[in-house]
Amino acid sequence: MQTVTLIPGDGIGPEITESVVKILQSAGAEITWDIQSAGADVIEKEGTPLPDRVIESIKKNKVALKAPVTTPIGKGFRSVNVQLRKALDLYANLRPCKNIDGIKTRFDNVDLVIVRENTEDLYAGIERQVDEDTAESIKIITRKASLRIAEFAFDYAVKNNRKQVTAVSKANICKLSDGLFLNCAREISQKYPQIEYKEILVDNLCMQLVQNPEKFDVLVLPNLYGDIVSDLCAGLVGGLGIAQGANIGLNAAVFEPVHGSAPDIKGQNKANPTALLLSAIEMLKHINQNNTAEKIKKALYKTIKEGNFLTADLGGNSSTKEYTNAIINNL
Ligand code: NAI
Repeated sequence: MQTVTLIPGDGIGPEITESVVKILQSAGAEITWDIQSAGADVIEKEGTPLPDRVIESIKKNKVALKAPVTTPIGKGFRSVNVQLRKALDLYANLRPCKNIDGIKTRFDNVDLVIVRENTEDLYAGIERQVDEDTAESIKIITRKASLRIAEFAFDYAVKNNRKQVTAVSKANICKLSDGLFLNCAREISQKYPQIEYKEILVDNLCMQLVQNPEKFDVLVLPNLYGDIVSDLCAGLVGGLGIAQGANIGLNAAVFEPVHGSAPDIKGQNKANPTALLLSAIEMLKHINQNNTAEKIKKALYKTIKEGNFLTADLGGNSSTKEYTNAIINNL
């Protein structure tokens, strides 16, 4: 039995968590969940959306499965997600993006991986009100963080049989900050002659992704571009409902979907649990429960391909619970 921290989050978080826990249990995953609440619902009781106990639990267990947590826009507390990534130094955000048989999209052979730097850039949260009519945000890019994310991307490419790494920036405008990011990627690329190295500006990347996404392989990006391009790529393969992710550091890994807490469909038994389930499958592989991971993946893909019990975001009319039961029946 492996103990894993489970953060059910808020919004649709608890619904999709219930679904995923049920599927993992039915598949025979050997996991004891250390359930840790976080987010809007704990602020009143504990004075913070991210109590220390959550961080301590992940530090102890070294692995977590996390559903989305709401971040209030414009005021209030800092994002739980950003705080968590910083506190645990989860410097790499890995977001694979691949077509799934049975989900109709404009493209058929998308198979790319986003490696997003997770600790700095505009997410450093250094902002100030200069005067009543002017606000300022500072973008931080460091050599240390840029080198290690580039190294992570190339290392991932080698270990996963990928052929190409593309560094993404806006170095024509942010000459110093993005320029530094790019120089670090170039430097690391020298150590990996077997991997083709390319560079592209983020605006051009966006255009090319919506025209020929199949030509991209591994993309390495600073935090903000990585965030935006991840949603774009999720859209290429069927939307946020199926976009998985992982935050990886040297001492811990937190697996979570790309999407947020989807307050617009909260509590309606409509949410698609696939993104969290795919994240959980990666988590199972991370803790060496490969057979269970494969078993769930097969049942999931079969359910989607059959197409009888899809959630609304995938064009179906099944509820979260009906879709969950269909996957369990296919295990
Ligand atoms: P969102 O990802 O929650 O929702 C965007 C759209 O996608 C909505 O129409 C939503 O209904 C739909 N959607 C998302 N996940 C879905 C799913 N599993 N099944 C079916 N439809 C789904 O983005 P939004 O609305 O910008 O953010 C809501 C909140 O989530 C914000 O407070 C944001 O800060 C937070 N957030 C949290 C993240 C995290 O915990 N890692 C990541 C992104 C956003």
